[in-house]
Amino acid sequence: MENVNSRRYIISIFFVLICILTKANVQQIKQESKINVLDLKCEYATNPIGLDVLSPQLSWRLISKENATSQTAYQIIVADSPEKITQNIANMWDSGKIFSNKSTGVSYKGVELKSKQQYFWKVKIWDKNNKESNWSDIAFFEMGLLNQKDWISEWIGSGPLWENRVKYFRKTFTIDKEIKSARFYIAGIGYYELFINGSKIGDQVLDPGTTSYDKRVLYSTFDVKNHLKNQNVIGVTVAPGWYGTEKLRAQLEINFSDGTKNTLITSGSTGWSVSIGPIVSSSIFDGETYDARLERSGWNSEIRLNNDNLDRDYGWKNVVNVDPPGGKLVAQKLEPIKIVDVIVPKIIKEPKPGIYVIDTEQNMAGWASLKIKGTQGTKITLKFAESLYEDGTVNQENLRLAAAKDTYILNGNGEESWEPSFTYHGFRYIQVEGFPYKPIIGDIKVKFIRSAVNSVGKFKCSNELLNSIFKMVVSTEASNLHSIPTDCPQRDERMGWLNDLTVRIDQALYNFDLSRFYAKYIDDVKDTQRDDGSITCTAPFRWGNNPADPVSASYLLLAFQSYIFYDNINIINEHYEGLKSWVDYLYSRTENGIVNYSYYGDWSPPIKFAVNPGSANSKDTPGSLMSTGYLYYCSNIISQLARTIGNSEDESTYKQLSKEIADAFNREYWNEQTGGYASNNQASNSFALFLKIVPENRIQRVVNNLVEDVKKNDFHLTTGNLCTKYLLEMLTEYGHHEIAYKIATQKTYPSWGYMLDNGATTLWERWEYATGGAMNSHNHPMMGSIGSWFYKYVIGIQPNNNAPGFSEFTIHPYIFEDLDFAEGEFDSIKGKIKSSWKKGSGSIMLSVVIPENTNAIIYIPTTKLKSITANNKNINRIKEIKFLRSESQYAVYSVGSGSYNFKSAWL
Ligand code: BGC
Repeated sequence: MENVNSRRYIISIFFVLICILTKANVQQIKQESKINVLDLKCEYATNPIGLDVLSPQLSWRLISKENATSQTAYQIIVADSPEKITQNIANMWDSGKIFSNKSTGVSYKGVELKSKQQYFWKVKIWDKNNKESNWSDIAFFEMGLLNQKDWISEWIGSGPLWENRVKYFRKTFTIDKEIKSARFYIAGIGYYELFINGSKIGDQVLDPGTTSYDKRVLYSTFDVKNHLKNQNVIGVTVAPGWYGTEKLRAQLEINFSDGTKNTLITSGSTGWSVSIGPIVSSSIFDGETYDARLERSGWNSEIRLNNDNLDRDYGWKNVVNVDPPGGKLVAQKLEPIKIVDVIVPKIIKEPKPGIYVIDTEQNMAGWASLKIKGTQGTKITLKFAESLYEDGTVNQENLRLAAAKDTYILNGNGEESWEPSFTYHGFRYIQVEGFPYKPIIGDIKVKFIRSAVNSVGKFKCSNELLNSIFKMVVSTEASNLHSIPTDCPQRDERMGWLNDLTVRIDQALYNFDLSRFYAKYIDDVKDTQRDDGSITCTAPFRWGNNPADPVSASYLLLAFQSYIFYDNINIINEHYEGLKSWVDYLYSRTENGIVNYSYYGDWSPPIKFAVNPGSANSKDTPGSLMSTGYLYYCSNIISQLARTIGNSEDESTYKQLSKEIADAFNREYWNEQTGGYASNNQASNSFALFLKIVPENRIQRVVNNLVEDVKKNDFHLTTGNLCTKYLLEMLTEYGHHEIAYKIATQKTYPSWGYMLDNGATTLWERWEYATGGAMNSHNHPMMGSIGSWFYKYVIGIQPNNNAPGFSEFTIHPYIFEDLDFAEGEFDSIKGKIKSSWKKGSGSIMLSVVIPENTNAIIYIPTTKLKSITANNKNINRIKEIKFLRSESQYAVYSVGSGSYNFKSAWL
């Protein structure tokens, strides 16, 4: 017995020992990584609700104190309740340990996602030493109404009554149970505002985003639980907006704590009423008129009569069902438009008695808010303009048919304040008429509105002119993001012109996070596509040519750049066929490889290079050269996209096609005598170089000609909206960055400095200053491609096309004689990238920040390879930094994440 017992004792000791050892072992193997996983996003948004993507893309960022941090594997788990995810029960999806460095663009691959359901997820990663991180915090996403049949409400309106008036919709109801959750799904076109019990829901304005309503109508989803009480009033105002008629469709879905549900829907038979109110007229171009005498306090907050819906005193009528706009209801996947800034203008002048003109000192998009006291019926008008006449009053000629005038009629009850709800203007000056006294500073404020995308870029250097140009470009882009990339915010246009966008995209991507904005906008372009593959010049299509100008490579770039910048692979899969058929269409329009049509080409060059003073077509750059060049470019992009999605057949077909077009281009436009393309002008030569279509043995002659032409024009550009980008880029890349710099820093016409010297705060549409009634916008992004030149060349941050989502990128700054320093940053999807350089005596200091889970190829400027130090140590001693090669005046290294200060000789 004894024996047995002692044997048992020994066995248990042995067992405990094994356990301890095994645990120690496990602990040794399962060492915890010091990396934090955070900033979880789903479809590029933090905890989105109302999503209708069946396989949403997930991303996260890593943060670590150590250098050269990378992820070698990840695991994602998804559950349908917070309890389950807390206990690591992945009943929707467990990706398992996936050996990959991908931390962006990871598509959900679990159990099918259901309408209105909320899902919770978290992620952990393994680092390069196979150390495992902790789980991230829990994030969630919630699906919207995935099927059209989930929409049980109807489109409502007022029938033939009150045409073109802003409609006021109202519905009252009671709730007698505890609410667990409540969601309001709403589509009100043109624009709507939603109130519950008197409070506006959300801080968005001019919602929903613009689409072709016959193809798609965007709906928004709001969590309204905290707004509901026992007795409730819903109020919705709906305005014509862009070019819609007023229609509303909405449903409020309430889940009660006892497990029951209630859905309130718009329809002609569910107790909704409609009327008109103080917004007497509202038009996006002409402005808004508000008669405060017509206000009915409590219309959206009070229940007054038992039979409230038929409260005839207030003119309420039953709503009627109206014809649907025709398009599918689709979740609004981009950031809504919001007020992003408010300023108090300081300059108020009185050019004529009783006429006040406010100078906001900044051209912008938005509106003015008013604070005023006066007698009932006093009428105030605000006229918006970009420029003034000699006499100091506003000049609205260049707004063409847009009246751009807001009117406010006082109700006379003490201090009143007002701002419009459903219009916006592009302006710097406001002319105030009818004000009962001289307005003082603060009576009129100015609100900037745009799609509330985040700013992601900064740039500064020792040349104030370049800083002002940078600011001018950013302000112009910011004034033209209103759910579509508009051409201008002020005149009777405000359309998404695809020719402008072709060169605008790069600059915009460095300055703003457009991951969601472009994913929405490419759908707008696709909506214009016909069966033959052609798209239209503007999207959504209102006017412009059909088919679009072949320079509209922006359709492809929206997908391609969203992939490169944001690792968005879904966008390629979804749009591949559409993109390809646009290229096929262009190919069908070739004769001997040359595209047979063009409308704008390199649009709007300096006037003496235009066909005639009344035209914006270039006289020296053949339209067919531009069209054919872009066919080559697009067909190359399709070949790359095909490779990305594993379609090797298309990859080689389109490669072959680009070769055929390149040959035709060279046959048609190369001039052996001059050694240049077409007329041997700046546009044709720089475009050919950009396309990489120039045979090796001709490159030098083309570059020399380009330089000669710039010199001949006294270091001024002769290019239009497209080739200005290629001119600066090609001069820089082919060894003439100082010449590019001279063009960039010109102050005389035509140049950005000239615009600034003439008072511009945003870019003009023409290189000339003009104020008449033609093509004279003063807030036009198409001339702003210099914005990406600052990032790509001056501070040198460039994505790598083979490593989407900035998992690898380049920092290749060019050092300019005239500059002492340049600094900037770009908040990439992986984290903030910084690059700055400064000249010292006989040296250059280059400081960079490389985000976790990325790798940078850094071009360190130096005249002496051996002189380079990194963080004050000999660079060769730092193991995270690998020497790759030396190129003229640069030593090229591969560098992992971290902050580094490089110092090198520079004589
Ligand atoms: C737009 C431009 C566009 C042009 C093409 C103009 O009305 O404002 O941005 O490039 O049309 O014709």
